[in-house]
Amino acid sequence: MADLSTTFTGIRFENPFLLASAPPTESDANIIRAFEAGWGGVVTKTIGLHPVVNVKGPKTKFLRSEDQGARLSMTKRPGTTVMASWNWELISDKPLDWWIGKLAAIKKAYPTKILVASIMAGSGNDKELHNWQTLAKACQGEGADALELNFSCPHMDRVDMGSNVGKDKVLCSVVTMAVKEVSKIPVWVKLTPATSNIVEEAEACFRGAADAVVSSNTWPSLPPIDPATLDFEMNVEGYVSPGGLGGPAILPLSMAKMAQLTKAFPDKEFSGIGGISTFDHALNYFLLGCGTTQVCTAAMLDHAIGPNVIKTLTTGMSDFMDARGFHSLSDFRGARRDRIVPHSQIKRPDAREYHGGYEDEAVEGYAKAEEVGV
Ligand SMILES: Cc1cc2nc3c(=O)[nH]c(=O)nc-3n(C[C@H](O)[C@H](O)[C@H](O)COP(=O)(O)O)c2cc1C
Repeated sequence: MADLSTTFTGIRFENPFLLASAPPTESDANIIRAFEAGWGGVVTKTIGLHPVVNVKGPKTKFLRSEDQGARLSMTKRPGTTVMASWNWELISDKPLDWWIGKLAAIKKAYPTKILVASIMAGSGNDKELHNWQTLAKACQGEGADALELNFSCPHMDRVDMGSNVGKDKVLCSVVTMAVKEVSKIPVWVKLTPATSNIVEEAEACFRGAADAVVSSNTWPSLPPIDPATLDFEMNVEGYVSPGGLGGPAILPLSMAKMAQLTKAFPDKEFSGIGGISTFDHALNYFLLGCGTTQVCTAAMLDHAIGPNVIKTLTTGMSDFMDARGFHSLSDFRGARRDRIVPHSQIKRPDAREYHGGYEDEAVEGYAKAEEVGV
């Protein structure tokens, strides 16, 4: 078997596959099962200090497409394929005190497995910045190998939490700096994909001395409306609010965000997430330049922690490396990053025919520039 081990933000991983912060890592029992199953690391479900009360009803469902047909629905039915997860789950509903002791016990029992603590507080005042530091110190005191700052949860009411931090460059820097002030372990930052230029928020985090950027969390979205009842397929007493889309549907979207990041910061460290269930999927992120990858939706659908998914990932990587004579991830990491170029650099049948979109002569079926007000 090929050597799958890798070093990411100074930490040695036996393989570059982690369970992402989500239900698969919501308890010590799950994390232990995950380590036994072969995951190189886990990121805990996000731990916070404020009270968490989830919605009355299901927190996650899976959007399925008919194999022979067009109907997209969350109803579980034969002859369908999962396209995405949709959730409006909040962070861990277990308080920090619940996690204390358990994190230390996990790390003691599995010293070579990597335990990353995902944390989240507010950011609107000094007390909240202090809360970030309290969480960071508590988790590092338990022996966590790294911290992942959640700047990405898409369904927070508070304007100074979750993806609202990830949409604000100043907060990205300020919070990262506050955590770095007290941490002795690497600090990863998980950004929201819901911004116009994720490079700006990443730059702000790196300015705050982040050791890595992680992308993507789920994408803001709504569940479909059932044409028979006219109700959203997920609702509480008829009402819904935006939640997050994950799973296969977001793989190309998350790749585009990751490509922006790895191209802008080729020397920085990135962990890729979004739609991974096989090595072929993870390979996309490695070829863009990621040093690790994370999985949520696929693991949720495979005995809650993905025992088959991790086997597929490690076997797939090993076979891929053997077939191509690669000795380590660094032999192919980033190998396709430079193939993403501006549209104008893509070859035309005749280079003289393309003028960067400013063509004077109208092409049949297209308006002339002046007709569309250019
Ligand atoms: C039910 C559910 C709960 C989640 N909770 C968290 C969380 O607490 N913290 C976090 O950073 N991401 C959370 N996520 C996002 C995942 O970690 C991951 O970024 C996202 O699902 C995309 O990966 P996937 O396509 O493999 O599902 C959650 C996702 C789901 C589906």
